[in-house]
Formats: sequence, C-alpha cells, structure tokens
Amino acid sequence: MGNVFVFDHPLIQHKLTYIRDVKTGTKEFRELVDEVAMLMAFEITRDLPLQDVEVNTPVTTANAKVLSGKKIGLVPILRAGLGMVDGVRKLIPAAKVGHVGLYRDPKTLKPVEYYVKLPSDIHERELIVIDPMLATGGSANDAIEALKKRGAKHIRLMCLVAAPEGVELIKKEHPDVDIYLAALDERLDEHGYIVPGLGDAGDRLFGTK
Ligand code: PRP
Ligand code: URA
Repeated sequence: MGNVFVFDHPLIQHKLTYIRDVKTGTKEFRELVDEVAMLMAFEITRDLPLQDVEVNTPVTTANAKVLSGKKIGLVPILRAGLGMVDGVRKLIPAAKVGHVGLYRDPKTLKPVEYYVKLPSDIHERELIVIDPMLATGGSANDAIEALKKRGAKHIRLMCLVAAPEGVELIKKEHPDVDIYLAALDERLDEHGYIVPGLGDAGDRLFGTK
C-alpha cells in the first residue's frame, strides 16, 4: 500500500496558512506556492540514493557523495500543477518536465484529458506528479494512469492539500504510488471542493476569477 506523508515542517505550515487565506492575492499566492513546492521537494528527495565519489578540493582529495540512481521527471497536471514546477526545479534543475492536461468537468466532477506530452524516457525516470489539489482524486488517478499506460514504472504524487476521498482513491487504484502532502483536510463539499481547502487553485494562481 502506498505511503502518505504530510509534511509538518514549520515553514511549510506557515506558508500554507497564507496560501489558504482568502485575502492573499494572486502575486503573493503564486510566490507562496512556489516556495512551498521547493520546501516539499527538499523533503520528498530525502530518500534519493547517493554514491561515493572523490573530489579535489583546493586543499586535498575528499571522499564525497553525489546523487545516483534514476533520473527524475516532473509531471504537472495542467493547469494548476504548473504553479509548483519552478519551485521544485530550483532544487532539481536537471529534471525533465512532462505535462498532462486535465480539467475537471464541473457537473460530473470527472476529469477530461486534453493534452499529454512526456519525456521519451519516462520508463527510466522517477516521476513526481504535481498538482496543488487532490480532491476526489479523479484527476491524479487519470494522470497516473496516463503515465503508466506510456511505460512509467516509478511514480510519486505531490500535492499541497488533499481530501481523504482523494487519498483513498489513489491508495486503492495505485498502491505503488507514495503521496506527499502539505495538509490532509477534512472533507469535500457538495461541489467537490476541499474543506477548508484554499479554493480554486488554478483560478487563484492565474487570476482567472
Ligand atoms: C483542479 C486541481 C486538480 C483537480 C483536483 O483542477 O488542480 O487538477 O481540480 O480535483 P479532483 O481531485 O476532484 O480531480 P481543475 O479541474 O480545476 O483544472 P485547472 O487546473 O485547469 O483549473
Ligand atoms: N480543485 C481546486 O482547485 N480546489 C478544490 O478545492 C478542489 C478541486
């Protein structure tokens, strides 16, 4: 069964409070999401394997370490996932970025896929699917399926805020996928919004409402 990690780092929790705040405007919202994404990337990469190397310092030769193992791929779910990509790339600049375009039909709440463009070597990469919101879980579930259908083998899911319903769906449908969150909220409302949540992540990031 996939693991669920909720990051309780004080900086993440502090910034998330301002992300949630209805008074936070688009510019500050975008900056805070970027910062939290970077802090989450720091935590998510804690278990990446290292290998020993020698490096010449100005003084002598040091036994040191560099990252080894699989290369990383980031897959934001359009469009709100885009708001977290730059933050993660600040820490993992060599990561390739694929895109999965989905929107949630407001009536059925079912995701509709409209775009998929991925690095050609996704089967060799450790993929991090990125979306600020895991609500019903339909969008993340479809995105993960889209990746697996195209050969992805190692997938993690990174979201700011999740509802229990979304977490349960991913755990059931993709028990191989670990989930990383800044918060696990109480529930969904009748429109499929996370409560207390932060509202519509895409609209707040891009100022479309
Ligand atoms: C939001 C969000 C997720 C999805 C979560 O996207 O960014 O992708 O809803 O909901 P779910 O877990 O119930 O599927 P939205 O459909 O609003 O599209 P947008 O990013 O283009 O605004
Ligand atoms: N999508 C969002 O942007 N917010 C929610 O609360 C649920 C889905």
